[in-house]
Amino acid sequence: MRDQKANQSENWQIRRVSETGSTNTDLLAEGAQGAPDRTVLRADYQSAGRGRLDRAWEAPRGANLLVSILFRQVPAHTHVLTQAVALAAARVAREHCGVDVVMKWPNDLLVQNEKVAGILAQAGPLDTRGVPAFVVVGIGLNLEWAPPGATSLAASGWTQSATPDEFLLSMLPCIDELLALPLEEMHERYVVQLGTVGMRVRAELPHDQEVVGRATGVEADGRLIVLDECGVTHRIDTADVVHLRPAVD
Ligand code: BTN
Repeated sequence: MRDQKANQSENWQIRRVSETGSTNTDLLAEGAQGAPDRTVLRADYQSAGRGRLDRAWEAPRGANLLVSILFRQVPAHTHVLTQAVALAAARVAREHCGVDVVMKWPNDLLVQNEKVAGILAQAGPLDTRGVPAFVVVGIGLNLEWAPPGATSLAASGWTQSATPDEFLLSMLPCIDELLALPLEEMHERYVVQLGTVGMRVRAELPHDQEVVGRATGVEADGRLIVLDECGVTHRIDTADVVHLRPAVD
């Protein structure tokens, strides 16, 4: 595991709290008050943790990584930030904990088709050009505990354990490295690691709609491309995706 030097890295302003409602909610408020780029807030426990699509995100005290990062350098496609956080977490899970994780669009991490981490990105107010002044990216990663239907790195047979702090401090330099890449290269790295591309998927859209078909790629703006059984191509912005099985042509 990386030593604690990253903690003093000039790039990152890291704070830890033993308890809060939601680290995302806190950083959204701090962002509005001018908190600097790459402010990081990690909590041992969240009493009102938030997931995607208005779900709750829960974990027992100290068991998992619960952290949010505020970015003020916001690229034109803001999803690049969430992809960088997901890729960094996947790399640390593999390289430090010895667990082979797969990414599921848009930013879930899976081990053998069970969720081990999820990401929630929330934008601050838009500036005059329509660009968010900042984006908060929160990740919940199951290190030691998982709710029913999900898994943890510990339950996936990690070869080396990690505390939430150790995991976080290993992720931050990876995020720096990924965000320094040209956008095309970053996109390529994301798509290569995405288990979704090539799979038959069910995309559960808002308002009880769904699309079933083969995921063929991801657009530069982050949308998932799905070719359905009638040969219609869908470009999907927001959905829950279920991996059904590898698609056969
Ligand atoms: C998902 O639904 O998959 C996304 C879950 C994101 C949870 C994390 S935990 C740290 C941060 N604070 C929150 O309230 N949510 C995110």
